[in-house]
Amino acid sequence: MKIISVVGARPNFIKIAPFIKAIKSYNKDGKASIEHILVHTGQHYDDRMSKSFFEALKIPSADINLGIGSGTHAEQVGYTMIAFEKVLMKEQPDWVVVVGDVNATLACSVTAKKLNVRVCHIEAGLRSGDMQMPEEINRLVTDRLADLLLVPDRLSAKNLLGEGCTNEQVVMVGNIMIDTFDANLEKALAISKSDIINRNVHSETSSKVVLEDHNYAVVTLHRPSNVDDKETLKGILNFLANGVAEKMPIIWPVHPRTEKQLKNFNLWDVLLAIPNIQLVYPLGYHDLLQLNMNAKVMLTDSGGLQEECTVLGTKCITMRWNTERPITLKEHGGVSVLVGNDLQLLEKEFQIFLKEDVKAIRPEMWDGKTALRCVDAILKYKS
Ligand code: UD1
Repeated sequence: MKIISVVGARPNFIKIAPFIKAIKSYNKDGKASIEHILVHTGQHYDDRMSKSFFEALKIPSADINLGIGSGTHAEQVGYTMIAFEKVLMKEQPDWVVVVGDVNATLACSVTAKKLNVRVCHIEAGLRSGDMQMPEEINRLVTDRLADLLLVPDRLSAKNLLGEGCTNEQVVMVGNIMIDTFDANLEKALAISKSDIINRNVHSETSSKVVLEDHNYAVVTLHRPSNVDDKETLKGILNFLANGVAEKMPIIWPVHPRTEKQLKNFNLWDVLLAIPNIQLVYPLGYHDLLQLNMNAKVMLTDSGGLQEECTVLGTKCITMRWNTERPITLKEHGGVSVLVGNDLQLLEKEFQIFLKEDVKAIRPEMWDGKTALRCVDAILKYKS
């Protein structure tokens, strides 16, 4: 069997690492004979957004890099489709495996189905219900086309069955990010926080905070809904300065999109002037995991961090109005609350979090063995 798996952007690398390991272990044990080709679309290309993850998670170098780079959505999707079609015509795989919800996921699923190649989607069935979110469009199209839908939890399975997918197509496998989490926890534990700052301090700032366990906040922001609007971004900076930094130090790994927008809106100097905020470059997997496991609170608009906070028991304020990962919310037993960009709500939830304790939870099958179940489901698939 020949499988092409696809990655494009940072969260994909974390999901594909255990899948590749699982294929190797199936081949080694003689349980399968899978020829695997890894395609990187090149959507993320900076060393800190891509190469560092390949190295840290020991992902073999991509066999093929399509070199797509940045651009509008149509440009990224269109260029990926044109380049990926050539790969498929040459390689003639039995399966294309896509993960997550980035533009590579959408582009490669459509291209594969147009050539009648089977598609397997890992992390299928997530729905935010928010069609303003580019990832929601990617999820809907990918899941509508995929032959095999591997879901992380029962809520996602229910979404797909409600949309007309069959029981044969939908297989609950658990959360593949948690395979990576479990495999790397020990290494992350050994890292010192001052070392993280020293290695990653943003060149336009100096190193200025000391992070004591359970007494600092981590901020990550990159969603267009938060960073592409000047007033929203200004409000968030205000809250961080007056609501958070006065109480505890903040460490903020700044995403390239966010840095670009802060500079466009003349807010970069405003941010640099706030005391008690440490700006660092986008962090490697282990560094961010170390910061997450000892933080007092996480303020984020990331999807994956909501899940990692859930298994760590780190309080998570999700700066979005909706989530495709409801299992991480307090009302489902998780650790996260949604505050959108309502600063009053943000302040209120932050105050509640300062006083209350949350518990780590492990949803069903978030057990570090998801990747093996993914390979198993592909091998057992009957059309
Ligand atoms: C993409 C994903 C998002 C994911 C995020 C993780 C889509 C639609 N979005 O968003 O789901 O949560 O990745 O980071 O696929 N840039 C660099 N260097 C890089 C990559 C990007 O400087 O290596 C800058 C460029 O200015 C680029 C901007 O960041 O225009 C945005 O990058 P892009 O890949 O378009 O989307 P993300 O916001 O990273």
